[in-house]
Amino acid sequence: MFDTMTLTKITAALCGALLIFLMGSWVAETVYHGGGGHGHHAEVVYPPEAEGTDDAIAEEETVDFAEILAAADVSKGEKVFKKCSACHKLGEGENGTGPALYGVVGRAASASDGFAYSGAFAEVGTWTPEALQAFLEAPKKYAPGTKMAFNGLKKIQDRANVIAYIDSLDD
Ligand code: HEC
Repeated sequence: MFDTMTLTKITAALCGALLIFLMGSWVAETVYHGGGGHGHHAEVVYPPEAEGTDDAIAEEETVDFAEILAAADVSKGEKVFKKCSACHKLGEGENGTGPALYGVVGRAASASDGFAYSGAFAEVGTWTPEALQAFLEAPKKYAPGTKMAFNGLKKIQDRANVIAYIDSLDD
């Protein structure tokens, strides 16, 4: 009985200490980041730094994709393409539910003869590997209004592999 009580007290003391610690850091953070006037002041002082960080991140992502693409696995890409093959064919000029993808890497968007495009790629220009990987990650977000009913490939590795596979067919 005594032992249980002691244990309970120790547990309660530890929980209390943790709570105080958490509240302490919460208060510290609120004071540091919060308080309208101070927050605004901080914004005025720091924007150049924030912008530099954003640029650095964007640049890093671009470099990363080029690297991943350079090391992409064409045979794995062939397997990924099974997700596309319900709608896309790879023969030259062969349209299905989706436009022919033969030679699409480096091709102008909406350029497969005889396919009735939605017009959603009007601003894409050319399907560079970078544009393709962004489109394939989230088709409807990248090209709002597209009639490509596909949710996207979440893994950057899958996108790189499938792009490498498609690109390997037209050389
Ligand atoms: C459910 C059918 C469907 C699936 C699955 C699908 N697509 Fe599409 N795709 C389309 C349609 C339809 C279009 C034309 C969209 C438009 O005009 O808005 C299209 C367009 C494209 C384009 C643009 C081509 C051009 O000529 O501009 C590319 C690239 C593409 N798809 C790649 C893929 C890849 C890669 C996959 C698999 C990872 C895939 N699609 C899966 C139906 C599909």
